[in-house]
Amino acid sequence: MERQTVLILDFGGPYGQIIARRVRALGIYCEVHPHTMAQDVIKAKKPIGLILTAGNKNTPKIDSAAFAPDLPIMGIGIDPVSAGLKFNLKVEDIQSGEQTLRSFLFDVCGGVGDWTMADYARQSVDEIRGQIGDGKVLLALSGGVDSSVVAALLAKAIGKQLSCIFVDHGLMRKNEGDQIMAAFKDWDINLIRVDAADRFLGKLAGVTDPETKRKIIGEEFIRVFEEEAKKIGKVDFLAQGTIYPDVIESGIGEAAVIKSHHNVGGLPDYVDFREIIEPVRALFKDEVRALGLALGLPEYLAWRQPFPGPGLAVRAIGEITRKKLDILRDADYIFREEIEKAGLAADINQYFAVITDMRSVGMKGEDRTYDYTIALRAVTTTDFMTADWARIPYEVLDQASSRIVSEVRGVGRVVYDITSKPPATIEWE
Ligand code: XMP
Repeated sequence: MERQTVLILDFGGPYGQIIARRVRALGIYCEVHPHTMAQDVIKAKKPIGLILTAGNKNTPKIDSAAFAPDLPIMGIGIDPVSAGLKFNLKVEDIQSGEQTLRSFLFDVCGGVGDWTMADYARQSVDEIRGQIGDGKVLLALSGGVDSSVVAALLAKAIGKQLSCIFVDHGLMRKNEGDQIMAAFKDWDINLIRVDAADRFLGKLAGVTDPETKRKIIGEEFIRVFEEEAKKIGKVDFLAQGTIYPDVIESGIGEAAVIKSHHNVGGLPDYVDFREIIEPVRALFKDEVRALGLALGLPEYLAWRQPFPGPGLAVRAIGEITRKKLDILRDADYIFREEIEKAGLAADINQYFAVITDMRSVGMKGEDRTYDYTIALRAVTTTDFMTADWARIPYEVLDQASSRIVSEVRGVGRVVYDITSKPPATIEWE
């Protein structure tokens, strides 16, 4: 049986992709296209229904019959001029409109809801093969969810035509670099790990200002990446792990938006490529995770919590030294282990340790100590724009604190951060 498809024709505003995600979550394949899509192209896709979406700024007046006279059509944020639109949701009703959407999809369009993320993976792999042909693709693999899923998609689609560069800046968490390599070791791709810890730590020596740290790391990243890319030579495509929230953040327009993280200083200038490809651009984070699992990525990569590009540099307050990083890695590992052991991992969106630049007096046995203070941070959030501190049970905090001070040399005190965002940020720097 042919896969059922619903098309969304987008008249501007953010709702096209938001509704697309809802439709896909209900098990019906859905694509978003500009409202200028020609009738015969619409027809060729054989959709079971159309959804027209517009933003709330300038509600367009639309004669829906002009798009596809024979198809069921639903309008969202649209002002219909012919009644063609039997289902019409106001933008304000999007949150509560689940039942209307369901009725439209299943009762009116005859949807059966048998589409899955595995189907999406298969279809994306086919599309990528068609787009790339026998071209070469380069990807900066950070080990984060987005770039890992892109690597997995491309690996399935084009195998050895893909080269991934993983710049290990020496600011990863405990064992993380090895884990990333292990996750991809059986995939048929060229994966290059650049051990650049000395370079990065050298550049960061003596630097205490957070924004300067970020800038140095961003610039050095580009430099290392370019050097490795030059060894590979000309490629046809540069792949990016842009996901839909990045597209929204960068402003929605017709032109391809380049993901410019505040941690990575833009695109490398000297990498010779023809085109950018962004294969997960239409997906939201939870969909990207589901796609990763469907492609066979291990759970720890697919469910990885957000980790800032500058890594532990922004979790080691003040000057970054190898000693501080080692202490931080061990303390962070123990905290994460205790959260996971207590079964809290799924309920806390980000949890980690910070090494402060403060030392204080303590005692170990007969000896007076003067050691670092570790801060534990754990937050619950939906969008990372605002966040609440996680109400972790005292017993779990107690266990983490006891283990950290007894197992990690150089830590004399552990505190728990009980500040929400705003006014505090999630990271300490
Ligand atoms: P803040 O600290 O701003 O963090 O409340 C919000 C989210 O962004 C992450 N974050 C970063 N991510 N580069 C990144 O890629 C950065 O420089 C950076 N700073 C913060 C942070 O971990 C949290 O998820």
